[in-house]
Amino acid sequence: AVRRKTAPDIRARKKGDPIVMLTSYHAHTAALVDRHCDVILVGDSLGNVMHGFETTVPVTLEMMILQGRAVMRGSKQALVVVDMPFGSYEASKEQAFHSAVRILKETHCGAVKLEGGARMAETIAFLSDRGVPVMGHIGLTPQSINTLGSFRAQGRDEASWDPILKDAQAISDAGAFSVVIEAVAEPLARKITETIAIPTIGIGASAACDGQVLVLEDMLGLSPRTPKFVRRYGDLGPAIEAAIKGYADDVRSRAFPGPEHVYEMKKS
Ligand code: KIV
Ligand code: NA
Repeated sequence: AVRRKTAPDIRARKKGDPIVMLTSYHAHTAALVDRHCDVILVGDSLGNVMHGFETTVPVTLEMMILQGRAVMRGSKQALVVVDMPFGSYEASKEQAFHSAVRILKETHCGAVKLEGGARMAETIAFLSDRGVPVMGHIGLTPQSINTLGSFRAQGRDEASWDPILKDAQAISDAGAFSVVIEAVAEPLARKITETIAIPTIGIGASAACDGQVLVLEDMLGLSPRTPKFVRRYGDLGPAIEAAIKGYADDVRSRAFPGPEHVYEMKKS
């Protein structure tokens, strides 16, 4: 049996070979991602991608656990990280611990991720000290959309750098094993990566980071909108639609099913 990567394995990759991470929410896509990536993120972006929500705010712990279990069944070697959804960890470090323990016990994943910088440092230390590896997430934090007002890149003027740098340092000091940096200007992402002790994993944060992550459906060309920071490695939306149209046409013309798809009677 192959040994599954652990949070300490990823932690040890600081300044090493870039960490490769993609999202997955399903067993079959997890198996494909697992062959090429170090980390699979069961992101709360599943709220948008699977459920059609406009934000990640409505996502529940139950949704995350169900999809985390599917991804664990589909994968063998990657570290699986499950996002803690909005409302499951912010109230107190105890609430965060109870939610994280449910995720680890019910999915068997290797780590959780939560959003927020300095304000979450105490929680990150509490969890890390009690057997729960935590990946941080700073810069643009989509769960805070209702207080932010809009999704906008961070750190594009130097005057705004200080709180973001402090967030990164606080998470690193608190014992997170790595941190996602989302939608942050390149020079700030570089500065954070050079300053803190743990690997940075960028999404819209330049190649200066210690690793990269994208939402799988975005890079496959399956999402209706692709953010500026996504490179499309596939164009699956039109390919899937062409296949569906081919099927619909064949059913309507009775070209499908063909003789090769039909069960014959047993010879008596
Ligand atoms: O939910 C998600 O997919 C994420 C990544 C974009 C980092 O948090
Ligand atoms: Na997320």
